[in-house]
Amino acid sequence: MGGHESAHPMPTSFTSAILLAAGKGERLGGDTPKQFLQLLDRPMLCHSLDVFEASEAIDSVVLVLPQIPFEWPGARYPKVDAQAQGGATRQDSVASGVAGLAGRTELVLVHDAARPLLEAELIDRLLAGMSETCDGVIPGIPLEDSIKRVGKDRLVESEVDRSAVWRIQTPQLFRREPLEKALRWAVAHGEDSPDCSQMLTRAGYRVKVVDGDPLNLKVTRPLDLMLAEAYLRARSGGRL
Ligand code: CTP
Ligand code: MG
Repeated sequence: MGGHESAHPMPTSFTSAILLAAGKGERLGGDTPKQFLQLLDRPMLCHSLDVFEASEAIDSVVLVLPQIPFEWPGARYPKVDAQAQGGATRQDSVASGVAGLAGRTELVLVHDAARPLLEAELIDRLLAGMSETCDGVIPGIPLEDSIKRVGKDRLVESEVDRSAVWRIQTPQLFRREPLEKALRWAVAHGEDSPDCSQMLTRAGYRVKVVDGDPLNLKVTRPLDLMLAEAYLRARSGGRL
């Protein structure tokens, strides 16, 4: 087909996911960190790994693990081409994952293993949102409750304009170089941020918000574990 070799009008960038699974899960409690707990049919982190495996948008995965021994079914996940050792804080773990990226990675999707309800459509939305006018794209949920500033004495101080406030989730998508530079900037300025996009905006990069997924909750406390199980079970249509 001379001259018509390209069926894809847009070149796709090599995209690597970093799955953060090196936390201690202190707020959930228990002996096993939450990302390794069995969630219906699989350990929690496998729910995200399965989405990465099935998504055409993800080319490779870096898995960031803690020091504790964990038997994970590596053979089921050929896209995982690197494992990294997590650090003391989430930002340290991100840095460790970034250091393990493949040489040809251009876009980096950073995701919390503690968000097992990830769906491929959200990854596609983030990629579609990436444009020349930004260095990162993150999922956000507009707030529905009233938001108030409350003082130490529990007295209401003021109202907060809800339309300007969003709840931010992972996965978060970044161009590789801004992410690497923002990490260096944070280290140089002694900053430790629990949210990668905060690192980029502090370092002066542009981050855009696209529609998140209200069901993409983060398992933080015991109630979240029950909700995650209920959502997953409902989504499986009774299969699980
Ligand atoms: N995480 C990590 N390395 C750390 C801290 C957190 O990889 N040093 C990961 C967690 O495994 C989780 C995600 O970052 O997937 C979000 O963090 P969070 O929900 O706070 O998990 P934990 O830090 O494990 O929980 P807690 O704060 O309750 O101890
Ligand atoms: Mg934490």
